[in-house]
Amino acid sequence: MTDIPLTRRRFAAVSAAALAAGCSPKGTAMKAPASRQFPPDFAWGTATSAYQIEGARDADGRGKSIWDTFDADPARIRDRSNGAIGCDSYRRYAEDAQLIADANLKHYRFSIAWPRVVPDGAGAPNAKGLDYYRRLADASLERGVTPWATLFHWDLPQALQDRGGWANRETALRLADYAGHVADALGDRVKHFIVLNEAAVHAVLGHVIGDHAPGLKDAAALGGAIHHQNLGQGLAIQQLRAKVSGARIGTTMALQPCRPEGDAPQNLIASTAFDALWNGGFLDPVLKGAYPKPAEEAIGSLLLPGDLDITKQPVDFVGVNYYSPIYVKLDLNSPARIGFGRPPKGSPRDAFGREIDPSGLFETLMRLKTDYGDPLLYITENGCSDPFGDGPAVIDDGFRIAYLRQHLEAVLSAREAGARVAGYFHWSLVDNWEWALGYTSKFGCVAMDRATGVRTPKASYAWLKQLALTGALDAA
Ligand code: FCB
Repeated sequence: MTDIPLTRRRFAAVSAAALAAGCSPKGTAMKAPASRQFPPDFAWGTATSAYQIEGARDADGRGKSIWDTFDADPARIRDRSNGAIGCDSYRRYAEDAQLIADANLKHYRFSIAWPRVVPDGAGAPNAKGLDYYRRLADASLERGVTPWATLFHWDLPQALQDRGGWANRETALRLADYAGHVADALGDRVKHFIVLNEAAVHAVLGHVIGDHAPGLKDAAALGGAIHHQNLGQGLAIQQLRAKVSGARIGTTMALQPCRPEGDAPQNLIASTAFDALWNGGFLDPVLKGAYPKPAEEAIGSLLLPGDLDITKQPVDFVGVNYYSPIYVKLDLNSPARIGFGRPPKGSPRDAFGREIDPSGLFETLMRLKTDYGDPLLYITENGCSDPFGDGPAVIDDGFRIAYLRQHLEAVLSAREAGARVAGYFHWSLVDNWEWALGYTSKFGCVAMDRATGVRTPKASYAWLKQLALTGALDAA
């Protein structure tokens, strides 16, 4: 059961709006692609995030992040591990860049740890932290790999959390300052920027459900976490635009079709309401300069005049992270009336128990085309985990190849239906520290020996390497 801040009254209002809109699932049905060939300029890449791979939490003046605080309590992490070592990539970044280049992948999406750049959350930047990202960008560029820097992948400086975190409007201003420091230090070599990663996940899992840092279970915290992230993103984009010539700036979202559990009409209403928060609460402010009703209600008086002019910024692309659809139901036992539901019985599942459904990716790409002005799109994350556990990685990972193939077919279908999808980043390069799941979940196309840090490519690495070379998607 999930608490999201819809009171009975608000739920009634949203339901009425959903009913008025007809609640009909819209969109074009996915067809098998006519061609299995990606164009030569399609961007092939891989993605990671700082807290999941870097380790070295005390190196070179890094400040504390909210994840350091969160995982200090081992009970919060499935295998009682923490992010102290990650993949040791703070030291092994050149080896990682080499692995990427050797796989013919020409794009590397990594994230910058905000607490390395602004250890206290405010004030002068930490030169040594910025130097690390300069070295990382250079290691990529020297190998023919284009760096794509994400600025906020959930690791807020603890000092900002101590001042209220995203509940505090000031945090949005600090994100803009941090973006300015990154632009000044890296803008000569990094041209691709993504300000927020999956702000919906950070807002809901971090502030309402409590499974992620900062671990709040407070439905009332949702409005600030939504709006101040969106506001900070707008301000950060302005900084990057002003300071980096030739910048290509985008945003990355966890876009998931929200589907009703079963065919009960009340679940359809609940899923429509949830969609307006989860997807619309982040797409609309940047692309349309508005909030859908349920998001606006959650934000309430935090939305000040002029804010939506700031959240709405021209973006060069939208990054789509896609793993599976979300199922939603009406749950009268929840104060929010909305709960997570189950996928249809018998549908294929990944190791998370999430449904494997590439048509959800197609639907998402087409929705962006149709309802959001046909932006340039990149798949900035897609992939699947090994089955959970403490065992070694599955090196002969045919299940991953099958998953990737199916989702890339959906990308081809969407391109044929007119969606402007220009690239694909596999999540992830190396098995890493998967947040509350610790090391029990492994998404890499490269395995890592936790004792030695030694990296071993899996079958999917060779498969991606061939695909990136030719752009030809093999058949099953
Ligand atoms: C996404 C996150 C990424 C990783 C993958 C599996 O939601 O952006 O850090 O956790 O899921």
